[in-house]
Amino acid sequence: MTDRTQANASHCPVLLDQVVKLLVPPGKSYPNGGQFLDCTFGGGGHSEALLQAGEKIFLYAIDCDPLAKKRAQEFSLKYENFRFYQMNFVEVGCLKLPQLDGVLMDLGVSSFQLDDESRGFSFKHHVPLDMRMDNSRGIRAEEFLRTADERDLITAIRDYGEEEQWRKVVNTIVENRAGRSISYCDTFAKMVANCFSKDPRQKIHPATKTFQGIRIFINGELRALEMALPVLFDKLAVGGRLILVSFHSLEDRIVKKFFNAMAGKAIDKFDSQSVQERVVFAKILTKKPILPSESEIKNNPRSRSAKLRALEKVKSCGTKK
Ligand SMILES: C[S@@+](CC[C@H](N)C(=O)[O-])C[C@H]1O[C@@H](n2cnc3c(N)ncnc32)[C@H](O)[C@@H]1O
Repeated sequence: MTDRTQANASHCPVLLDQVVKLLVPPGKSYPNGGQFLDCTFGGGGHSEALLQAGEKIFLYAIDCDPLAKKRAQEFSLKYENFRFYQMNFVEVGCLKLPQLDGVLMDLGVSSFQLDDESRGFSFKHHVPLDMRMDNSRGIRAEEFLRTADERDLITAIRDYGEEEQWRKVVNTIVENRAGRSISYCDTFAKMVANCFSKDPRQKIHPATKTFQGIRIFINGELRALEMALPVLFDKLAVGGRLILVSFHSLEDRIVKKFFNAMAGKAIDKFDSQSVQERVVFAKILTKKPILPSESEIKNNPRSRSAKLRALEKVKSCGTKK
């Protein structure tokens, strides 16, 4: 167990040992001490374990959440070999970084964000429906629901939320968006739940998928991931590793496609590129995604949908041969 600071006291980093072993394999030596980037600092659980994995490691970290910056300030006091940037990882190309030996992305929201009722992610509280990871910019979920055209509502709820009964939810939003109920987490969650007949076997809140889809939409989560992956790969040194922990099938699909493309494999069943045309830039280290054990899920139920995939760069993208 790592030494845990106040900053990460209420966050349980997912697949921690597996992430550290894959990013900093035991026995691997780094001529430059090891230069790493954590794109999703959150509460710093993974960051701290990485900093403790090697004496000379230098860790850069990013998070778009202003409160993550506060937690990172505590880290800066404790670790000289740590630098934090509050920014969206979609803009990582603007950072001047050395060639990296490892990059981590632990996607989605942190427990800090989910558990802080004022952030407006939960179903329970009578607080404004916000859901922005970076609450210093962008539009709140409430504004999105009031102003979005039907096509965007469908993208959020059907495509990103994968809500089977999306039509009922979209119609309810459109019919009720002038009212007050749409403004608050608890009243909106109730409005969504009322779209469905009660199922006593259902374990999750009936608004879970709708909330998830809206969150993914307003934070631009899938686009950010798609745009950041090639930029991050480019920043890796040959031999450097990219580790992704995703929590949603759509994220995992983007990661899998990107990994296959870099490894010179067909990205999906429609990919007709010939074997001769493919170039191998990377080796996939996880044939199947690594999943949390039963005991991890028991200790940390939020880990239940996590999937870890890892890749090692074998060639720079500028080189064809
Ligand atoms: C699952 S948490 C990471 C938890 C962290 N690994 C830990 O051990 O504490 C994901 C974090 O990534 C941040 N995040 C998500 N998407 C981001 C993006 N596009 N740019 C920057 N940060 C992002 C969120 O604000 C959140 O703090």
